[in-house]
Amino acid sequence: MTDTLQENMKLLKNQINTLKKEKNITLVCHNYVSSEIIDIADFKGDSLTLASIASKIESEKILFVGVDFMAETLKILNPTKRIFVPNILATCPMANSLSPEMIQEAKKQYPSTPVVLYVNSTAECKAEADYVCTSGNALEVINNIPSDTIIFGPDKNLGQHIEKLSGKKMIYVPGESGFCYVHDKIPGSLVDEVRVVHPNAKVIVHPECALEVREKADFIGSTGQMAGIIAKDGGECYIIGTEVGMLYNLKEAHPNVTLYALSPHAMCSNMKKNNLLNILATLKSESNEIIVEESLRLKAKTCIVNMFEMMRS
Ligand code: 13P
Ligand code: SF4
Repeated sequence: MTDTLQENMKLLKNQINTLKKEKNITLVCHNYVSSEIIDIADFKGDSLTLASIASKIESEKILFVGVDFMAETLKILNPTKRIFVPNILATCPMANSLSPEMIQEAKKQYPSTPVVLYVNSTAECKAEADYVCTSGNALEVINNIPSDTIIFGPDKNLGQHIEKLSGKKMIYVPGESGFCYVHDKIPGSLVDEVRVVHPNAKVIVHPECALEVREKADFIGSTGQMAGIIAKDGGECYIIGTEVGMLYNLKEAHPNVTLYALSPHAMCSNMKKNNLLNILATLKSESNEIIVEESLRLKAKTCIVNMFEMMRS
């Protein structure tokens, strides 16, 4: 980065910090956003942390930096807070691959079968679900549900991973088209290559990765679990198979460990629609507010509350 770019970034960060203090707006972001945003965040985390974070936030206004379903989940759980996003176009194609009609169809085919949705889903789909889960708690939630068969969506990769660990039968909605393009397109051959180049490194991948990658990995975990896996394992070098933004967080948490991205091309273009300029503009304008209609909010809330119940049982 040139000196001028660095200086501009510093000025922008200062302006953002001043404005959010003046207006008492809390900046919350997902682990995948760019490093310059992570640097100025009041809270950051994986989607499980972000779903449970609001009780820790005192301000009435939150600027959420991530993708839309995450901001929506926060709003569903905290209707009295005003939640803004820097770019309303930052969405999750995997969440959008599932429709409420697909879930209704599966429910007709498999009556009395609980529906568990990955939190990467729209409020309209959550309104049709019995439980949600995140990649950080999917096994715990599914193990605690008193049923051997589960309707699960939209991520078939996470579903298959949990199906194997839990031994429960999963019925997938929407099926083969439910995946994250960022993770699913990381090829398994990359794991073979890094093992030749870095023979002592261990490979940690996100459960959204395809089977051929998961099978070759040493550990599988959510973005929130990755730092803990490294701390527990105590190794010196790790290859990280998830969105590249995660590397910055892990380097902050483990400055003495050597970390490489499994695929430098694994970039979520939606997360990267957020930047310092649109954060500053939103702080000024207080636009792009997340609104969830009240009857939809109440229906969508049930499966999230049920997720927390399953974590307590
Ligand atoms: P985490 O739950 O691990 O934060 O993942 C969210 C996500 O969108 C991964 O692509
Ligand atoms: Fe959605 Fe994949 Fe981006 Fe996560 S990384 S927000 S699952 S597109």
